[in-house]
Amino acid sequence: MSREEFIRVSLETNLVFQRLMKEHLFFIETSLRPVEDANIQEAKILKMSLEHLLSETVVYADGVISEDSIESHEFVTPFTLRAEEATMELAGADINTDITKAELQLRSNSNSDYEDWLEGVVRDLNNRTLNILKEVIEFKEKILSLVENCEIFISLYHELIKHITEEAMLYQKTLMSLQNRELPEMELCEKLNFWNHIMGEHAQFIDGVLDPTEEELKEATEAFVERFEELIEECKKVSEEEIVKRSKVATKDIRDFKMAATEGLLECKIKAIIPPLLADHVLREANLYLRILDILED
Ligand SMILES: [Fe+2]
Ligand SMILES: [Fe+2]
Repeated sequence: MSREEFIRVSLETNLVFQRLMKEHLFFIETSLRPVEDANIQEAKILKMSLEHLLSETVVYADGVISEDSIESHEFVTPFTLRAEEATMELAGADINTDITKAELQLRSNSNSDYEDWLEGVVRDLNNRTLNILKEVIEFKEKILSLVENCEIFISLYHELIKHITEEAMLYQKTLMSLQNRELPEMELCEKLNFWNHIMGEHAQFIDGVLDPTEEELKEATEAFVERFEELIEECKKVSEEEIVKRSKVATKDIRDFKMAATEGLLECKIKAIIPPLLADHVLREANLYLRILDILED
């Protein structure tokens, strides 16, 4: 991996995942009951540590990251700021929206010279992120074990807590490889199945938070669950080209569905027990997966 690639890929990865991680912590923070004050505080402190790292990443990423990564809307979507403002008000917990405003101004620059000093800065940023990430994974595992033993109550599914832990572990694996100047080694089906599983679970979670009267939307989510399960089953049975193509079609469809859901929630047109920011969060994960599929297709 060249110095240029190391810097660019590290910053793009951190922009996506530092935000996803701090939002996971926000969702835990706001889904625990007041009686869980110590765990709420722990979630909040980890969230703030990630916000600090993300604001640094934004500064160094400006003018360095690729045009494709900005256009994919994997960092922020046109809904993110509104979703944050609405969710903050609804949940009564803090989100640093200045970071979002700065991210909306991010520029790419193909003439960036990727100097020596930036490599050192990024290496250090990756290291500090890995330290926090270890704590984040341990915290999520602790919450999951407390929930599984019925020692705490949280309005998040067990499976969702596992799901966000898996995402944190993928991020950890990616950063560790990057620190060795490598991309994480994953076979095609391992990679596709990871993301198809994530997309299928999003459909399950959305199904589970929709009001029972939202029959049409619930039917749509159930169809997505089946489609992504099929893709996982068939990965090793069809050609690489075919499975990438079909994954892309399914992901574009669920991306459009999530986009409509985020808008519908922001406009108060959908009955559900999901904060708008969680809808925007899963939308960004679909956008990220679509860019990964684009790269695989090339
Ligand atoms: Fe996530
Ligand atoms: Fe997810």
